[in-house]
Amino acid sequence: MIANFFMPTRLVHGPGALGRIADLARGLGVTRPLVVSDPAIAATAFYQAALATLRAAGLDVATFEGCGIDARLSHVDSEAERVRTEGRDGVIAIGGGSVICTAKGIAIVAPNGRSFADMTGVANFRNKALPMIMAPTTAGSGSEVSQFTLVKDEATHRKLVGGGPLSFPDVAILDPVTLATLPQRAAAGSAVDALTHAVEALFSSLATPLTDALALEAIRLQAASMRRSILSDDEKARADNLLASSMANMACGNARLGLAHTLSLPLEAILDLPHTIGVGVLIPRVVAFNAPVAPEKTRALARALGVTAADDLRGTVEAIRDALFRLFEDVGAPIRFADTEVPQARIGEMAAAAIPGLYGGAMPDGEVHDGQVIHQPGVRRASVRDARAIYAQCYG
Ligand SMILES: [Fe+2]
Repeated sequence: MIANFFMPTRLVHGPGALGRIADLARGLGVTRPLVVSDPAIAATAFYQAALATLRAAGLDVATFEGCGIDARLSHVDSEAERVRTEGRDGVIAIGGGSVICTAKGIAIVAPNGRSFADMTGVANFRNKALPMIMAPTTAGSGSEVSQFTLVKDEATHRKLVGGGPLSFPDVAILDPVTLATLPQRAAAGSAVDALTHAVEALFSSLATPLTDALALEAIRLQAASMRRSILSDDEKARADNLLASSMANMACGNARLGLAHTLSLPLEAILDLPHTIGVGVLIPRVVAFNAPVAPEKTRALARALGVTAADDLRGTVEAIRDALFRLFEDVGAPIRFADTEVPQARIGEMAAAAIPGLYGGAMPDGEVHDGQVIHQPGVRRASVRDARAIYAQCYG
C-alpha cells in the first residue's frame, strides 16, 4: 500500500500565541484581511485584543461577526463577494467550528467565483483558496488543520462538504486564552469529539505509523488534560487540550474516521442528535467491536489512556470502557443514549441508513438485508446486523 500523509498547516501554539496574529498575517503577505467571528466571540476581550493588534500593525481589517450555530451558505457566498469587491487578500477566523468553516468557505469561494454549492465534494475548484489563519475557540473539531469545510444550505437543509489540498488553512493559532470563556457543556462535547477523532484514526485500516504516533499522543494528552482544562482555570491543560485536538485531526484527516462517526451520522441527520453525543456514546462500544481484530492497538489505547492493560483482551476492553465512562462523566458528557433522543425502536432504521458512510458509499438497490456491509475504513468490517448490535449496547 502506498500511503500519503499531508499536513501543510503551520501551527503556532501556546499561551500568548494570539498576540502574534499580525506578524503571521504579514508573513503570508496579507494586509487587507476579513476577520470572521460570531457575536459571542466578538464580545470577548481576546477577540478585541486580536483586532487591535492587527490594526496597530497597519493592517486594513474588515469584520464579519454574524456566524451562527452552523456555517451557512448565504454567509459564505455573500462574504466571498464582499471580499472580491473590497479586494481583501486573506481570511482570519477567530471562533469555533462553524466560524472556521464559514471562513474556509469564503476563502475557497472568493478566488473561484462560483457559489460554494457548486464546488462541493473533493477538490472541485481550480484556484487556491485565499490565505487563511484560523484561531479556534473550542478544542474539538480540528477544522483549523483540515482541508474540508461543512456548510449548511438553509434553503434545502442539506449539509454541503467541500475542500481539497488547495484549501488547507495556512496557519492555526492555538492560544489557551480562547478557551477561558467557553461554557463547560460545549467544552466537554468538543473534547469528547476530539478524543474520538484520535481513537477512530487509530482503528482505521488506513492508519500508518505516522497517524498512529499522532493519534496515540493526542489520546494521551487529551485524557491527561481534559478534566483540568474543562473543570478548572489551568492554562497549561487548556493549551494541551487545544494541541491534542489539532493532533487528533491531523491523524484522522489522513487515516479517516471510522465506525463511531459512521454510525453517528444517521442519528444526527434523522434524529437531530448532537454530533458530540453521538460519537461519544458510540466510541467505547466501537472500541469493543474492533478490539478482537486489533489487539495491539487496543493495548496501545489502554496505555495512552493511562489504564493498566489486563492480561486478557476482554479485561483490557472493559478497563478502557470504564476509563472513558469515568472521564466523560467527570466532565459532564453523556455515556449512554436516552430513549427520548434515540428511540430504540428506530435502531434498525438507523443501521440501514448508516450504509453509505462518510466517504461516498452507495445505498444498495432494493431491500437492505442484515449482512449488508457498512461503508467505513475501520479495521473490522461491520454489517447492518453489527451496527444494530452496537446501537443496542448504547443504552446500558
Ligand atoms: Fe467528530
